[in-house]
Amino acid sequence: MKLFFRYALPCFAVFCLLFCGCRKMTEKDGPKAEGFILGFSQIGAESAWRNCNTRSVQEAAAAAGVQLLFFNAEQKQENQIKAIRSFIAYQVDVIAFVPIVYTGWEHVLEEAREAEIPVLICDREINISDESLYAGYIGTNSVQEGQSAAEFLLRKFTPDDSDEPPETRPVRIVELSGTEGSSVAIKRAQGFREIIAGHPFEIIYSVSGDFLRSKGYELMCTILDTLDDIDVLYSHNDGMTLGAIDAMKERDIQPGIDIVIVTIDAEQAAIDALKRGEINCVVECNPKQGPDIIRLAGYLARRESIPRIVYMNEEVFFEGGDLSGLPPRGY
Ligand code: AHR
Repeated sequence: MKLFFRYALPCFAVFCLLFCGCRKMTEKDGPKAEGFILGFSQIGAESAWRNCNTRSVQEAAAAAGVQLLFFNAEQKQENQIKAIRSFIAYQVDVIAFVPIVYTGWEHVLEEAREAEIPVLICDREINISDESLYAGYIGTNSVQEGQSAAEFLLRKFTPDDSDEPPETRPVRIVELSGTEGSSVAIKRAQGFREIIAGHPFEIIYSVSGDFLRSKGYELMCTILDTLDDIDVLYSHNDGMTLGAIDAMKERDIQPGIDIVIVTIDAEQAAIDALKRGEINCVVECNPKQGPDIIRLAGYLARRESIPRIVYMNEEVFFEGGDLSGLPPRGY
């Protein structure tokens, strides 16, 4: 009972307020582009990247006059499923969500189809037997991100002078991966492995740091205290990387020199560390998806078709590159 008052009641109250506020403003008289209602379920606020992603969606919705029902799932798939069910009950025009994990969406998406509400998958992908259960995907190309990270390492560790004697042992890599079961963690790992296969690289340890800076720090402390001869840290996001760098510095290990670091996201703090030589390569993951999400949701609100996949533009920044013209990242 205590739990009900502490958690369920406040959530319900917030949801009712959101819904009531929107009801006053809209007449649900058929598909429309401007003024349509978009139910959007976000994962949470685990990183600066994620906060920028949320801002991007909220600002784009406000600029386009779209009514956004925003729901923060606090890192739980069950909360996202509840939110989607609430969007269905409210009969929003379009549902968009960032799936925290890759699988387990069949039932709720069948319910959305039953209610004739189109669904847009954002940022992370889903694995589902019936792909017609969603209209399309807009987000990042995680396989490509993993490949870019590995391609940098191939260049870094392949001697340009062929007379040089070969290394006596493979390059030893530690991987800090993202949230277990998420498409981004699965595909960043997959793309990376595809490229290093057949080359003298060995992933000596891989562990999930849940995309959290605090976990990146804690895990790296343990790793540095138990494993020797680490050549490379491949980290699936900047938050974990920055935590891992703190752990290295505490042990007088020079990040970027004693351990080569490749990271994904391109937050301002990571770009600054790249400039200082503490990170060797930053693969961009573009969080500014809001304008595209709102544009695609607009087509769906008008019951028009959209491309099956829209990937964001992403760059790779590395040591020795010219970063002088790079505008502030905004996250
Ligand atoms: O889904 C994108 C990932 O999620 C970003 O790389 C990470 O920072 C975020 O939390």
